[in-house]
Amino acid sequence: MEEAVFRLGPRRLEQYERDGFLVLEDFVEASACDALRRRASAMVEAFDPAGSFSIFSTREQTRRSDRYFLESGDQIRFFFEENAFLEDGSLRQKKEHSINKIGHALHDLDEVFDRFSRTEKLAQLVSDLGVRRPLLIQSMYIFKQPRVGGEVTCHQDSTFLYTEPMSVTGLWFALEDATRENGCLWAIPGGYHLGLRKRFVRDKEGGTHFEIYDSSEWPLESLVPLEVKKGTLIVLNGLLPHLSYANRSEKSRHAFTLHVIDGDCRYPEENWLQRSSSMPARGF
Ligand code: FE2
Repeated sequence: MEEAVFRLGPRRLEQYERDGFLVLEDFVEASACDALRRRASAMVEAFDPAGSFSIFSTREQTRRSDRYFLESGDQIRFFFEENAFLEDGSLRQKKEHSINKIGHALHDLDEVFDRFSRTEKLAQLVSDLGVRRPLLIQSMYIFKQPRVGGEVTCHQDSTFLYTEPMSVTGLWFALEDATRENGCLWAIPGGYHLGLRKRFVRDKEGGTHFEIYDSSEWPLESLVPLEVKKGTLIVLNGLLPHLSYANRSEKSRHAFTLHVIDGDCRYPEENWLQRSSSMPARGF
């Protein structure tokens, strides 16, 4: 199907420069959102949590889940809501309502996600934003489940995907309407000027830790809600502070995120997310 050429004009570029984010309504078709939702649902259906999450001692559990996470950079892996399990290791509620997200290489390993992520329209958008050699470094399918979808506290995506110089751009696709009730994004307009507060890095013992540069409080009183309709794309500067509150409503709030870095920037080996040399990050 022929699609109209989408370009970011000077007005939107100025807005992005000022706020550090952009809300682009109707960027993706409802049918494309639905295709992604169907695919994610089928993946969850096929996923057997028993293999990775039987009962371990707390220490062993931590070690295994660390590894499961740290090796997910070039895999498709499933991450549970914090309170998904009962004491005996069984699930508190149905599997499809227990998963927090799927990550982090959906866009490289799954055909449906690959097709959604690698479009002319997105390539043009990222080019208009000034990214010279875009690499799709990470993707996540986020469920924000009804009633149990947890809060994501205020953070900068560059904390997790640091490059030198800084180059991360977040692309956040609403696959359903996102409202205050079901846990939409909130951002601090212009907050990217505050600089990088911390980095999430691997430590030598096989775990992770934060390197803190500035531990002052975020000016949360400046947060604005980004309530958006299904099909909206929110573009986020990697340094923009943002969060989402818990979903206490009866409605889910599915979203898909893609993170793009500039291949001309240095990607440090202590970044938590690493990919094997046989599967380097690719562009559009
Ligand atoms: Fe984020």
